[in-house]
Amino acid sequence: MRLAIVGTGRMGHTLATLALQKGYSIASHVGRLSPELWGTLSVEVVIDFSHPSQVPALVEACLHRSIPLVTGTTGWYERLPDLRRLAETTPNARWLWGGNFSRGVLLLKSAIRAIFQMWGQLSDWEAALVETHHRHKKDAPSGTALELRRHFPALKTIYSLRLGEVVGEHRILLSGPGEEVELLHRAHDRIVFAEGALWAAQWLLQQQRFVGSFEEALSSGRMSNQAL
Ligand SMILES: NC(=O)c1ccc[n+]([C@@H]2O[C@H](COP(=O)([O-])OP(=O)(O)OC[C@H]3O[C@@H](n4cnc5c(N)ncnc54)[C@H](OP(=O)(O)O)[C@@H]3O)[C@@H](O)[C@H]2O)c1
Repeated sequence: MRLAIVGTGRMGHTLATLALQKGYSIASHVGRLSPELWGTLSVEVVIDFSHPSQVPALVEACLHRSIPLVTGTTGWYERLPDLRRLAETTPNARWLWGGNFSRGVLLLKSAIRAIFQMWGQLSDWEAALVETHHRHKKDAPSGTALELRRHFPALKTIYSLRLGEVVGEHRILLSGPGEEVELLHRAHDRIVFAEGALWAAQWLLQQQRFVGSFEEALSSGRMSNQAL
């Protein structure tokens, strides 16, 4: 796989290291969007872990050039409806985005979906989410916290802690009279996100057309014959 990576920070660095270890070639690696990204290079796929301000221009550029794009950057979701509309009306568009490419968070989402089905019978219970990330993180709440709330709308309160160099932690607290349940996902290493993004990129390359989130790709059934 021949990649271009946008983002030279913590995630961009982890992704580049892993991609090279896996024998992929990196045709271009930039922090900020620039003509240098496109040049005369031929790239099969672009993976973006940069800044929300860059997402719209990068999506438009990739759609225009028919280059598959995996967006791992978070914090731009207010633009999702119009960018999605644009992609859906672009022939042969291939664009996949995900606020969290770890497998553990996929497990957490499916656990809370199941719990939410019973939630109506637990009218005296309350739910809250605490997400903790390193102090450099730009957006709050995290993209993952917002996705978790979409699956569990009873999660009315989200607390965002920005602390030290914590890679990423999402803790869901369910509290009832005299008892409580806690679900925790903790990423120890950014490599789990890089693994998921590379896997998503490989999958996207095999599609004729796809516009949707990581979860939509997984639930489409089209990912089932490829181990994550
Ligand atoms: N989807 C997932 O699984 C997942 C997992 C982890 C993180 N993320 C997301 O990935 C993104 C990158 O995270 P990170 O920890 O790698 O961030 P980071 O270390 O701060 O790196 C940010 C990168 O974006 C570039 N950038 C471009 N425009 C910028 C602007 N206006 N302000 C600041 N930086 C700008 C920076 O360039 P310069 O070096 O020139 O400043 C740098 O290369 C974030 O949105 C984060 O939430 C997603």
